Parts: sequence; structure tokens; C-alpha cells
Amino acid sequence: MEKTNLAVFISGRGSNLKAIIDAIKDGYLEKVNLKVVIANKEAHGLKYAKEANVPYHVVYRIVKGEKIQKEQHDREVMEVLEKYNIHLIALAGYDQVLQKEFINRYRWKIINIHPSLLPSFSGTLHGQKDAIEYGVKVSGCTVHFVEESVDAGPIITQFAVPVKDEDNDETLSNRILEYEHIIYPKAIKMFSEGRLRLDGRKVMIKKDMNVEKVTTFRFESDKIKIAMGAIGVSKGVFSTFMEKAEPFVLSVNDITSREATIIKQEMLALGGECAIPEDTILNSTLLPISVLVIGNKMQIKKLIKKLKAQPFDLPLVADKISKKMGRTI
Ligand code: GRF
Repeated sequence: MEKTNLAVFISGRGSNLKAIIDAIKDGYLEKVNLKVVIANKEAHGLKYAKEANVPYHVVYRIVKGEKIQKEQHDREVMEVLEKYNIHLIALAGYDQVLQKEFINRYRWKIINIHPSLLPSFSGTLHGQKDAIEYGVKVSGCTVHFVEESVDAGPIITQFAVPVKDEDNDETLSNRILEYEHIIYPKAIKMFSEGRLRLDGRKVMIKKDMNVEKVTTFRFESDKIKIAMGAIGVSKGVFSTFMEKAEPFVLSVNDITSREATIIKQEMLALGGECAIPEDTILNSTLLPISVLVIGNKMQIKKLIKKLKAQPFDLPLVADKISKKMGRTI
């Protein structure tokens, strides 16, 4: 399937633009080409386009102190867009209402993110402050198609966020923003997969019929990180999952059967394994043996801790394992 050529429109901070750029980098938006970023002023968020080498254009709304008429400005923007064969426009903090001609030209190809649960607190640039002043207990964010009436197009997805008694404009905005950064790429992904269908005012989301129900991975750290990015796992918790995903098989040599039995018990208690020679339990000869410790990185880390508190030479074994694993632990 052909990729979706995306244009993002911004006027300010650009954190949603950044979330989209990151989602493309992580492979989550694998069917999206970010073709161009458009701003109507020197927006701070342009820095993300520059950093990612995405073409950007500032189509100034105010020229020499004079505001350009909205229709005229829209036309100038359309001229820029024509060069890029755009399939989808994502408004991300674009502080200007698009006019009829523009919306007609890109009908059902323009989406917007709004920091409230629409239709509440629509048509404003300070939905979060209004929500606090109104005293609502739940707010959130909405991604919707853009129609002529502001913030009123069919809703693609929403996320509800609690409003706390002690919230102010800033704390609530930040909490909502966190989820904006999740649902906006999600909505763009569904669009790019052709899964959105309009049924009157309703946006129906088609199931992905092509999806392979189960896929498997060999442990290759880079590939697993890409896979985590692709399903939208937050980067901050990658390492926790990696520790459980990374397999280790260690040969521990020259130990006694008693030590081997303790290692096996500890590994079983941790959900891992330890392969031992068949006659270990009966081994009365006290001949040194070797065992294979089988587990993931997290289990081995825990084993090291446990062995440090065990008798015989097990603290020494713990030390050796720890050294052997070196910087991987
Ligand atoms: C976001 O809160 C968005 O919902 C609203 O404008 C804000 C833009 O923030 N439409 P950013 O520029 O993406 O950081």
C-alpha cells in the first residue's frame, strides 16, 4: 500500500509535531511520509522539522504589520502544498481557522487535535483553563476531522484525563498533552492504514484484517527496540522490558553438587532454570561439576543477589557471574 504523504501545520511549541516525527522514526508510523511542515509564523516547533531534515515553509499571516486575509493566506498555503502531493494534513496547534475553499480542496484529509473532550470546550485556544474554571472532573483530548464549523468535525479518537482538585491550567494542560502525544500518532496511523471510514458523523474504525496474529522474534536488541517503538511503548520503560527479553545461558563450572542444587532452586524460584548433571542429587563423590544457568537478564541479576547471601563458595560464584556479564548487567 502506498504511503500517506503528511503535512503538519503548526503555530507554536510543536510538541505534537515532535511526537509525530518520533513515531515515524520509531517505525510506529511506517506508512507515513512527513513531507512538509507549514507554519504561519516563526514557530518554535520548526526546530523539530529542521532537526529531522523535514522541509518546512513559513507562510506568514502577518506581513509588515498587516494581517493577510484568511482566504488569501489559505491560498498561499495551498500553493505550497501542491508541490508535495499531500494526502493528509494534521493541524498541531495551528492557531488559524481554515476557510471553506481550503477545506473543500482537502475534504476529509484534514485532522486536528484539541485539548478537551469535544464537544465540550470547543472553539477556544484555552480549553484546559476553561475546563478548570467550569469545574469539570474529567477532561481529555480529541482528534477529529476538520469541517467548516470549528472543532465540530467527526471524532476519530478521544482520551479522557482526570482533573484533580489541585490542578491549574499548566498541570492539567501537561497531563492532557501527554496523551495528545499518544492519540495523535495513533489517529494518523489508522488513517495511513486506510482504516477510517465515515458513516455520517461517525468515524468507523475498521479492523486490520491483514494483521498477522502472532509473530516471533529472535533476541536482537535493536530489532526488539524497534518493535516496541512500533507498538507505541514509551521509551522510558524499554530497558525494563529488555531485561526480561534478553536471554542468557551461563555455564558455571567447578562447583559442588550442593552449590549446584542451591543455584537450581534459586533459578526455579525466579522462573528460570538450571540444567544440572543427572546424578547431581546423588553425587556423593564431591567431584566438581558444571551446570548451565538459563534465564533472562533480570533473573540473572536477581540470582547474583541471592547467591551473595548463600553459604559455601556461592558468593564467589555470584561475583564471577557478575564479572563475566560485565557491563551487560
Ligand atoms: C495542543 O494542546 C493541541 O491540542 C492544541 O494546541 C496545542 C499545541 O501544542 N490544538 P504543541 O504546539 O503541539 O506543543
